[in-house]
Amino acid sequence: MVWNGQHFLGLEDLSKEDIQSLIQRASHFLEAGNRYEPNAPLSGKIIANLFMENSTRTRCSFTIATRRLGGDCIDLLGGTSSASKGETLVDTAMNLEAMGAVGIAVRCSEESGPSDIAANVGIPVINAGSGTASHPTQALLDAGTLLHYFGCDDLSGQHIAIVGDITHSRVARSNVIGLTKLGATVTLVGPQKLLPTDPACETSTDLDAVLQEVSACMMLRVQFERDAQVDEDYRDKFGLTEERFANFTGAILHPGPINRGLEIDACVAGCNSPQNKILSQVSFGVATRMAILEHLIG
Ligand code: CP
Repeated sequence: MVWNGQHFLGLEDLSKEDIQSLIQRASHFLEAGNRYEPNAPLSGKIIANLFMENSTRTRCSFTIATRRLGGDCIDLLGGTSSASKGETLVDTAMNLEAMGAVGIAVRCSEESGPSDIAANVGIPVINAGSGTASHPTQALLDAGTLLHYFGCDDLSGQHIAIVGDITHSRVARSNVIGLTKLGATVTLVGPQKLLPTDPACETSTDLDAVLQEVSACMMLRVQFERDAQVDEDYRDKFGLTEERFANFTGAILHPGPINRGLEIDACVAGCNSPQNKILSQVSFGVATRMAILEHLIG
């Protein structure tokens, strides 16, 4: 592995080989199932989960990953921390370091939050989702899920659609970086008002046309909490409906949480088809965070 960064802030910092190496290590952890790592590289170490925005998958998977590596973790959540009294994100992180945490996984609404913390502490910082800008651990687990699905070690020749509320999606931004580094072609699909004005790849407003071209389709949640607005025909135009899925032969992904019946029909999200990789993403999320924690801290 070439990458020797102290922090995991964004996939911009990693080469294709670094991404492949982390996915390879995560795949080892996935194959080991629910087993705790016998050499316990985080034994005696405490990781702080500093989550100023809500989370189910990312926070729980960091907790499980830490424990499987033999470490312990503390959770500091926005609503119950002294951030509610005006303490800054950086001050909060510096206090966690002073208490002995050896690493911080941070989710926050500020784009620069993880890098601001990294500039002020002496322990590794992992970006667990920052504003609408970046969610690199999600993109790494998404890339690994796709590599497993295709049975390849890169994504050359694969064309992947990311569909929905692109404007508000840190998952889309990090995935464009990660997937293209692995050789994929990416097309962003959505209503014009939810597409970026400065896209880093192709865009389209015609989901049916794009679905005929792609080998995988990542559906995104409409982020109403960030004031996303959609028209009444959103599901008809941009949802992965039962009818669309019946004519699609590729993999389907969704980072979660899901608005069932809006961006994806409930029966599609819950179907047993081998094309449905949604819960595989979640399982690989634990393994991916194990690989990152081991590399930075173990
Ligand atoms: N995919 C994702 O980040 O989910 P959570 O917000 O539940 O962590």
